Amino acid sequence: MLHVNLIIAKDPAEVGKLAADIFQDIVNAKPDCVLGLATGSTPLPLYRELIEREKAGKINFSQVRSANLDEYKGLSGDHPQSYRYFMQENLFNHISIDPANTIVPDGLAEDADAMCAAYERKIEAMGGVDIQLLGIGHDGHIGFNEPCDHFPVTTHEVELEEITREANKRFFNSIDEVPTAAYTMGIGTVMAARKVLLLATGKDKAEIVKQSFFGPVTPMVPASILQFHGNVTVIVDEAAASLIK
Ligand code: F6R
Repeated sequence: MLHVNLIIAKDPAEVGKLAADIFQDIVNAKPDCVLGLATGSTPLPLYRELIEREKAGKINFSQVRSANLDEYKGLSGDHPQSYRYFMQENLFNHISIDPANTIVPDGLAEDADAMCAAYERKIEAMGGVDIQLLGIGHDGHIGFNEPCDHFPVTTHEVELEEITREANKRFFNSIDEVPTAAYTMGIGTVMAARKVLLLATGKDKAEIVKQSFFGPVTPMVPASILQFHGNVTVIVDEAAASLIK
């Protein structure tokens, strides 16, 4: 039996629209809700859709709060490849959200452990995440929780796998510039969200989508843990669904 609500959309644009419908319902029902947000290519159609919908008066972000999944270690928020910068450029600068109500792990933290612990407390103080948006890495990572022998619980520092640095080097001048470490919410942080929405698009995600939701739950495929969350929606395009029968 499939333990997640799986929706197959035609293409990335339709994935973005269907995801935006879910966000719209949550924000309209709870105007000061807490959105758990992700970076990467996959959420871009969703973010574009949300910007358009606020312009059209269908959604209002003025009271919304947000907590991002992760950030590169060593990059400041104004570095063009930092995840804080990505969020400003692709969403926050174009909607009415108050920047003071958005949190992203601090890539320049001097005391990494203290910053991570404080990040968890900030999410708790916000009342927890209402909907956590996720992409998925080719190795099954969610946030920067890479395959390993256990499920890390809380926000922590991680060394990045070569496959992840390779996948992300397209945004940098060369692989040498891709940070070797990052901060990420833990699997426990993600699992504590009241709802999880995972998006995957493209043929290159088909194999990991199959492994994550139709295979065994294992920390070697971090996203597979979502099978144990009671309220998960997975929206994939036809290409990413191509290995699911
Ligand atoms: C981003 C994140 C990552 C990405 C994943 C997929 O904040 O946490 O887990 O969601 O690497 O990235 P894209 O969407 O670029 O394929």
